[in-house]
Amino acid sequence: MYGDPHTHAAATGSGQGKRPHACVLTIFGASGDLTKRKLIPALYNLALENRLPEQFAVVGYARSESSHESFRTKMREAIREFSRTGLKDEAVWEKFAATLYYVRGGYDEPAGYQRLKESIDAFDCGSRLLPVRLFYLATPPELYGAVIERMSAAGLAPREIDGEPRTRVIIEKPFGTDLQTAQDLNHRVHETLDEKQVYRIDHYLGKDTVQNIMVFRFANAVFEPIWNRRYVDHVQITAAESVGVENRGGYYEEAGVVRDMFQNHLLQLLCLTAMEPPVALSAAAVRDEKGKLLQSVRPVAPEEVAGAAVRGQYGPGKINGKDVVGYRQEPGVAKQSATVTYAAMRLFIDNWRWEGVPFYLRSGKCMAKRVTEVAIQFKRPPLLLFKSHAVGAVNPNVLVMRIQPDEGVSLTFEVKPPGSDMVIKPLSLDFNYQQSFGSSSPEAYETLLEDCIEGDSTLFTRHDWVESAWSLMDPIIQVWNLSKPKFFPNYDAGGWGPNEADEFIQRDGRGWRKP
Ligand code: BG6
Repeated sequence: MYGDPHTHAAATGSGQGKRPHACVLTIFGASGDLTKRKLIPALYNLALENRLPEQFAVVGYARSESSHESFRTKMREAIREFSRTGLKDEAVWEKFAATLYYVRGGYDEPAGYQRLKESIDAFDCGSRLLPVRLFYLATPPELYGAVIERMSAAGLAPREIDGEPRTRVIIEKPFGTDLQTAQDLNHRVHETLDEKQVYRIDHYLGKDTVQNIMVFRFANAVFEPIWNRRYVDHVQITAAESVGVENRGGYYEEAGVVRDMFQNHLLQLLCLTAMEPPVALSAAAVRDEKGKLLQSVRPVAPEEVAGAAVRGQYGPGKINGKDVVGYRQEPGVAKQSATVTYAAMRLFIDNWRWEGVPFYLRSGKCMAKRVTEVAIQFKRPPLLLFKSHAVGAVNPNVLVMRIQPDEGVSLTFEVKPPGSDMVIKPLSLDFNYQQSFGSSSPEAYETLLEDCIEGDSTLFTRHDWVESAWSLMDPIIQVWNLSKPKFFPNYDAGGWGPNEADEFIQRDGRGWRKP
């Protein structure tokens, strides 16, 4: 037997569950961008590190005509271009290439699913143990429900095989576009699958530095006692991107930054930063705590949106010395588009630990630099003992968990430099992943695919979490949709967002970090 996947789930959520002996992974949307940029390079890197099951196969499924051979050739190119290690080892590639297959079929074409089933069933022959069957939905999101229904009709989605949920479905983001569509999709999914078969992806959860938030908080005793309203003044969660919408104008016009970054990635960071310690490191316990945390976030009522959130859209500007066009000039974007490419918001968490502590979240495209971080700003000392001696004010301590690109953790504190004068200067204690460990982290998709193969759902989003996250973001999206912005674009590409965002936080007597 493979063992009970729920026991694996009690492992770590980072690929240390029990690896099955055999696994067949079907990718719906095999000719798309995600497959070539992320999925196949991630699988190749797992192969390089010998982390795939002994018997492994990938079946690419898409509408376009292709042979196994030409699928392999395209994937070889994709690995060369997009894998973090390049095409490092020809021998590994040769072996990996032999596990890649292609089936052509439409997403609403029953005969295509039958061909797929025959192809997958072929891997069962001669095996003592039936392989784990994974299905990755990398299609356009509007097809997710229909693909699962077609899979079910073709007999590809049994809830259990030999008493185990050995068929698992991985669903890419976005999961719905608002609360209603997410609920509808959850409903459709659950008509066919048990929740334990469903792996909703949020690639931020696969990042080492994001997983490190839990380790940092719960494997060290020194920070937890001060991780609360008595010591923390406020928290800033930033996900700034220096890229624009690239070639995704069409998608982004509908999504905007709140759907694209806040509903998923930023709220996940908020949960990991603020949640209570789970009772165990199991999928259920961790997801329970995240769910509880989201339920304690105070919803922003429509009439409060104006005071609790700020929106922006980038105009032309310069990034790293290069001219870049404004959002409205991007391909696929309407000339008068009102889509929000920058947002900042203040959320409160109504529980004993965080009552009254503001959490400021911000994210934007075409910002001065790419940086994602969680900064915990502590309160100033209660008595400003050094104020008559110090040069400048005493700075508050800030603990920064740097998610990317300069991965690490730093803690700023005040010191007295050598000399007879009493001078106070801020310095920082710094931990840097690259310096400490040398090697580069695995890509998030490597970790997440490995966890799916092993049946560990800790790092995946549960149905209730997605719905709570949408219910928090929906009022903001709706209010902004109803009142079109008058002054877009309101920030230059290459800056730190609109002036309104600075004024917004300054009204609270605080300022944004400029990392
Ligand atoms: C994706 C968004 O989910 O995350 C993109 O759709 C965004 O718009 C990306 O660029 C950011 O991910 P990362 O890993 O580069 O921070």
